Amino acid sequence: MGKLPVLLYGSPILRQKSLPVQTIDGGLQTFIDDMIETMYAAPGVGLAAPQVGRLSRVIVLNPSEKQDPESLMVLINPEIVQAEGEIMAEEGCLCIPDLREPVTRYERVLVKGYDRNEREVEVEGKGLLARIFQHEVDHLEGLLFVDRLSTAKRDILRKRLKKLLTESR
Ligand code: NI
Repeated sequence: MGKLPVLLYGSPILRQKSLPVQTIDGGLQTFIDDMIETMYAAPGVGLAAPQVGRLSRVIVLNPSEKQDPESLMVLINPEIVQAEGEIMAEEGCLCIPDLREPVTRYERVLVKGYDRNEREVEVEGKGLLARIFQHEVDHLEGLLFVDRLSTAKRDILRKRLKKLLTESR
């Protein structure tokens, strides 16, 4: 095992809703290690399981620039339970190469879930961390950041997105 292929925009899996994890077994642990390896290799600051073809509610993230191990987070069945504020910043996605656009997100979120040791965790995220949480949790719902853009903006990008769709087939 190791690095996994990342699905690209146009793959129907990216549009499906992921299922809650029932048991954190050895198979899932290996999968989580592979997700982390894939995220670092990309490189990216976050990755959700459906991006590598598995419809399970698992996300990994590391907002630190130098991939500091202390900033690495694995969240299973994450749920945004509180959110406040609004902030716009540029966002990209490993599934949509070469596209970065400003997206409005909550400025602060509180996320509940489980870590890989089955401990219940509650994490507060601000700034970039809050943005990654929202982006990755969106993936678990089959949503991509381009869905969060204004209709006008999506119209402008329509051609580019259509081209990506054709290339991924
Ligand atoms: Ni993404």
